[in-house]
Amino acid sequence: MKFFIDTANLDQIREAQDLGVLDGVTTNPSLMAKEGITGEKNILKHYVDICEIVDGDVSAEVVSTDFDGMVREGEALAKLHDQIVVKVPMIKEGVKALKYFSDKGIRTNCTLVFSPGQALLAAKAGATYVSPFLGRLDDISTDGLNLIAEIRLIYDNYGFNTQILAASIRHTMHVIDCAKLGADVMTGPLSSIDGLLRHPLTDIGLEKFLADYNKGNS
Ligand code: G3P
Repeated sequence: MKFFIDTANLDQIREAQDLGVLDGVTTNPSLMAKEGITGEKNILKHYVDICEIVDGDVSAEVVSTDFDGMVREGEALAKLHDQIVVKVPMIKEGVKALKYFSDKGIRTNCTLVFSPGQALLAAKAGATYVSPFLGRLDDISTDGLNLIAEIRLIYDNYGFNTQILAASIRHTMHVIDCAKLGADVMTGPLSSIDGLLRHPLTDIGLEKFLADYNKGNS
């Protein structure tokens, strides 16, 4: 399972990278705005800054909603850095753009996916990653994890290569559940990765080991 961090915050990206388990970064216009990164020039520079911190894939989102605009933007984004994956929304023009990019060898992440049918279309169009937003489904009393399971089943039935990137992860249990369901990738906040570390018995056990070791030294 690949671990991506879902943020545009460079300090958090560095912290996750330093842990040694980071495989990539996902961003979106809202995450950029949260860090005060606005304006095309600043946003493009920020993508490059992120690529220079991490070794893996960095999703950069197009903001056009027509095919020609998506292609223009996506090609420019892909040229920025070889780690860039072009993030395309699941709309009709987006499906056409996914197919175009796939034929050109440009890697893509199909975003804003909320149903198995949308995920099937993304795979047919040759998306590299598909991003089902499980937290946002949970927010409206719909089982987000069930969507991950449905997409896994469909992709396995036909051997699609599109990787399931479980997105809109909100906490550590989402990460564990997605791992059980066979999501290829998870993207979440730093806290969802940090939470995997913690267990009170680890802390108690370590305290006791160190206390016992130090008995001989006092
Ligand atoms: O990766 C998708 C993500 O950015 C959406 O997360 O928490 O805004 O639903 P959230």
